[in-house]
Amino acid sequence: MHNITLIKGDGIGPEISDAVLKIIDAAGVNINWDIQTAGADVIEIEGVPLPQRVIDSVKKNKVALKSPVTTPIGKGFRSVNVQLRKELDLYSNLRPCYNLPNVKTRYDGVDIVVVRENTEDLYAGIERQVDDDTAESIKRITRFASERIAKFAFDYAVNNGRKFVTVVTKANICKLSDGLFLDSARKVAQNYDIPLKEILVDNCCMQLVQNPNQFDVLLLPNLYGDIVSDLCAGLIGGLGVAQGANIGKDYAVFEPVHGSAPDIAGQNKANPTAMLMSAIEMLNYIEEKDAGYRIKSALFKTLENDIKTADIGGTTSCTDFTDSIISRL
Ligand code: NAI
Repeated sequence: MHNITLIKGDGIGPEISDAVLKIIDAAGVNINWDIQTAGADVIEIEGVPLPQRVIDSVKKNKVALKSPVTTPIGKGFRSVNVQLRKELDLYSNLRPCYNLPNVKTRYDGVDIVVVRENTEDLYAGIERQVDDDTAESIKRITRFASERIAKFAFDYAVNNGRKFVTVVTKANICKLSDGLFLDSARKVAQNYDIPLKEILVDNCCMQLVQNPNQFDVLLLPNLYGDIVSDLCAGLIGGLGVAQGANIGKDYAVFEPVHGSAPDIAGQNKANPTAMLMSAIEMLNYIEEKDAGYRIKSALFKTLENDIKTADIGGTTSCTDFTDSIISRL
């Protein structure tokens, strides 16, 4: 029996969480889910969007599965997701990105792994209103955080048979901050046989759109990592299929790349694939590899049979898609 925290989130969060739990249960994995809530609804009752009980639960269980939590735009509370990653020091955001069967995309053979630094950069939340018409955000980059994420990217490359790592910055403009990130990657690279390539983020976006197959592992600071992850999701069929994981020294939180998708929430239209793929990685992480393999095969067979949600060109509802996967387990 595994004890795992489940953060159900909001928007489409509850729908895709229910789908994924049903599939994992059907695969016969024994998990005692510690269900936790966070976000706007929680503020009204507990006064804060991310109560200490959520952090304590992940600390106790060491592993969590999380669906998205809405962050108010341009006002209101700070992102629960960013706070959680900082509180638990989940310094690496790992987002493998590859084509799924029968999901129509512009390119075949995409196989990119995005490694995003998860704790600093503009996400450190150091902002101030200088006067009514001026605001500032501090982009904070440290050698410590840059070297450990570079080390994570290279270790991942070594352990997963990847050929090279490309560090993505804007070090021609942000000479000090991105310059430090780049310098740290260069230093770390000296300890590995795998080559380090370098590219500026604007050119990287253009190259990804024109020829994604030239890339292998991408190493990025927080903000570029966030943006480029969504670009990469677009290469493989959209956010509905893009998986992710936040990994630190002591804890791991598995969650899809996408947000709470308020435009389709409560309509039984959400694609649970991104959350399911994240959960499969979680199963591998807790050494339930056989169940992970069986679920992935059932998902792929479902897609091959043209059973797909609307975001990837189908007409199947979230619940019917879920049941189709379960019937193929
Ligand atoms: P979003 O990722 O929620 O949605 C972007 C578009 O992709 C929408 O058209 C949506 O319908 C579609 N989409 C996303 N996931 C889908 C799925 N599973 N199935 C089918 N279609 C899907 O991004 P948006 O609208 O910018 O953000 C909404 C909220 O989510 C914001 O409050 C944002 O801060 C939050 N957010 C939370 C994240 C997290 O909890 N880790 C990550 C990203 C955003």
